Amino acid sequence: MSSVEVAITGLGSYLPERTVTNDDLAQRLDTSDEWIRTRTGIRERHYAAPEEATSDLALTAARRALADAGLEPTDVDVLIVATTTPDHPIPATAPIVAARLGVECAAFDLNAACSGFVYGLKVGADLAVAGATVLLIGAETLTRYVDHDDRSIAVLFGDGAGAVVLQAEQGASLGPFDLGSDGSEVEILWMRAGGAREPFDPVLHADASSRMNMRGGDVYRHAVVRMTESSRAVLDRAGIGVEDVDLVIGHQANQRILEAVGQRLGVSEERLHLTVDRHGNTSAASIPLALDDARRSGALQAGARLLLTAFGGGLTWGSCLLTWKGTRSGGSSA
Ligand code: COA
Repeated sequence: MSSVEVAITGLGSYLPERTVTNDDLAQRLDTSDEWIRTRTGIRERHYAAPEEATSDLALTAARRALADAGLEPTDVDVLIVATTTPDHPIPATAPIVAARLGVECAAFDLNAACSGFVYGLKVGADLAVAGATVLLIGAETLTRYVDHDDRSIAVLFGDGAGAVVLQAEQGASLGPFDLGSDGSEVEILWMRAGGAREPFDPVLHADASSRMNMRGGDVYRHAVVRMTESSRAVLDRAGIGVEDVDLVIGHQANQRILEAVGQRLGVSEERLHLTVDRHGNTSAASIPLALDDARRSGALQAGARLLLTAFGGGLTWGSCLLTWKGTRSGGSSA
């Protein structure tokens, strides 16, 4: 999985308007701002409005990315939505987004949980090398899937979307990649009911155990090990050291996880971009949201070498390198 001459030519993101602080959650759950901040780094997260679903968030991020690339929806050949929280179990969310953009291009979802955006970059990069203009969106409404009475999980997640346009460009560099999975212990992070193995039954699944569930400590340990190993794998494949990386943008699940990965890799704190404090864990949306946030903050300079690394349910993990060229309009989106 070596690098290819593909650039991110457009970038956009969208966060729902409603912000929910730790103190807001502490009013209805047995938790506190202090517990959440010290265990996760999260201070607040965004919640989709009742009428907003994953495709609505995806659509706004997509429009912003296309505008940033100076493209029309009709220029898109392939639209990919990386999500683990689709609008419906059937069909995929991507064709819905394409239709709302007014196009009939190839459109499909990719579910690799929180690693979905990095997986999508690999799939998108290969399509772009073959000549396609690819719109890759990471979009999630995880607050619809969690049990809001379960303090161990409800405080962690937020909603949001980020999108990039991928196009072949001489001199650009995306990759190498490292992608992996271990599906031998799916229950470490899963939603048991509602699929083919255990179709949703209103009587059987009335209890909270059929909602999204997680063994937090196990997830934490696996995340640190896998993100570190996967990051090292792409650095080795590229033949460079961590000192050659300007900015690390990891999946934003937990500040302590990212700092532990940073320490093991030997990355200084200022090269670790963090948004988890403001966004919570937005799964497949977290890396493109963090990319756009980094651009707005001035941390994303043209020529910067980025290391992206992610870990999620499945288990899945993935990392890649990317040289930031700057998008076509060079703009930023809120
Ligand atoms: N507020 C207060 N207490 C809480 C709480 C909350 N929101 N959530 C859990 N607790 C309690 C538990 O009930 C448990 O209590 P007990 O010991 O009496 O049973 C205790 O806190 C667990 O504490 P601790 O073991 O110190 O927590 P932790 O440091 O392991 O942190 C997580 C817990 C979930 C924050 C941490 O394991 C984590 O972030 N894991 C990864 C989660 C993740 O990122 N998932 C997505 C990956 S893509």
